[in-house]
Amino acid sequence: MLRVPAPTVLILAAGEGMRMQSDTPKVLHPICGRPMIGWPVRAAQEAGAGHIVVVDGPQRRLEGALPDGVELAVQEEPNGTGDAVRSAAGHIGAGDTVLVLYGDVPLITAEAITALAQAHEESGAVATMATMELEDPAGYGRVIRAADGSVERVVETKTPGDATPEEEAIREANTGIYAFAGGDLIDALGRLSSDNAQGELYLPDVLPLLRADGKLIAAHVVTDATLTLGVNTRVELARVRALAQARIQREHALAGVTIVDPQSTLVDAGVEIGRDTVIEPSTFLRGRTRIGERCTIGPLSTLIDTTVGDETRVVHSYLDGAELGSGVSVGPFAYLRPNARLHDRAKAGTFVEIKNSEVGEGTKVPHLSYIGDADIGAGSNVGAGTITANYDGANKHRTTIGSGVKVSVHTSFVAPVRVGDGAYTGAGSVITEDVPPGALGIARERQRNVEGYAERAPRKQR
Ligand code: UD1
Ligand code: MG
Repeated sequence: MLRVPAPTVLILAAGEGMRMQSDTPKVLHPICGRPMIGWPVRAAQEAGAGHIVVVDGPQRRLEGALPDGVELAVQEEPNGTGDAVRSAAGHIGAGDTVLVLYGDVPLITAEAITALAQAHEESGAVATMATMELEDPAGYGRVIRAADGSVERVVETKTPGDATPEEEAIREANTGIYAFAGGDLIDALGRLSSDNAQGELYLPDVLPLLRADGKLIAAHVVTDATLTLGVNTRVELARVRALAQARIQREHALAGVTIVDPQSTLVDAGVEIGRDTVIEPSTFLRGRTRIGERCTIGPLSTLIDTTVGDETRVVHSYLDGAELGSGVSVGPFAYLRPNARLHDRAKAGTFVEIKNSEVGEGTKVPHLSYIGDADIGAGSNVGAGTITANYDGANKHRTTIGSGVKVSVHTSFVAPVRVGDGAYTGAGSVITEDVPPGALGIARERQRNVEGYAERAPRKQR
């Protein structure tokens, strides 16, 4: 961990993000279920940041969209990265170690942040810039090193006019990620000028100012260039998402989860999966989903904000906001909606839809049923084609079914209605009145056989 006192982390995010062609601010586009800005924020938290300040633009579009405890600074005009840091100056203490990250460079890790902070601490520099060697550094600021290896300055290449052809040939690029001594940073920010090709205040221009004061500027080379990939377009967003997804799946795999086909699987950031659970192909685990141990999930299943116990099986099904106990069986072709709660060893089988209902321990709903707004006790069996008529056109009503109930096939429960423990219903019944415990509720027209009907039935003309 950091030997430096908890650093102040600034995350620059006031850029317009025009190339995203979007009404949504760039850093709020989700990557594996978490807004882009949430990624560097999380990395900074994991690296032990004291406080985290995000620099937003004048429209304050990130207000209310940031994780708890993250502060917001506003840059009133997009006047360059130096100006962005300047607008957060009120959050910087002279004795702080300040780390600068970008909101649109989401793959940075806690380890990489910690390594930069440590390199900064060890070199005794007032500024340490994370740099990378790139095959094609087009558009990046190039690092000009002095003979002793320290950093002289950065020359920008995005807009013609800043760099000479010799400087353009340099392959070491500025990642845009830095560690600074707070007091020196504030002092140098006050002396920045916009005398450059873009007419903006460039943050890297603080480096030669500090150097001229006789202070040491260091570089810290990052060897994994994927850590500092930026997102400017949705093409880059897709690339970064794929890398983030691979990182998520790798962590689960190393923790004992089998992901049979990583390419066809999506696991959102923050999803929890227990040891020895197998994720079969074409399965999507989204949002706040939590899965226990020794489960089999998939193939072809989607779980959104769903909780699953241990040794539960979900096949070819769509679950949104459901809660499953242990030893539960779901699918194939089940649709479990918000607050479908299946207790241990319960079953929701083929072509079954359940929402806002309790399905008690060991209770089975094996085929072709709609269970809405119902409470079913333990050890009951719900026959094929059972429907809760929960909606009278204006209001929803509950169906209450006890334990050990045998609901025969094709029963309709017209709610509100109650069925006592150990009761039965007759096949094809429309149950509109309560069924007492142990009783048989049967509500259907009696069968009448018309004898000799075939003789009298109209015949086709010969
Ligand atoms: C910057 C660096 C360049 C480096 C590159 C790495 C400068 C002048 N150049 O260039 O050396 O190689 O990053 O990606 O710093 N931002 C604001 N307010 C602004 C301008 C930018 O908050 O007024 C934010 C953006 O939202 C973004 C970050 O700062 O998160 C970087 O801005 P960008 O315009 O992409 O800088 P580059 O030109 O890429
Ligand atoms: Mg950029």
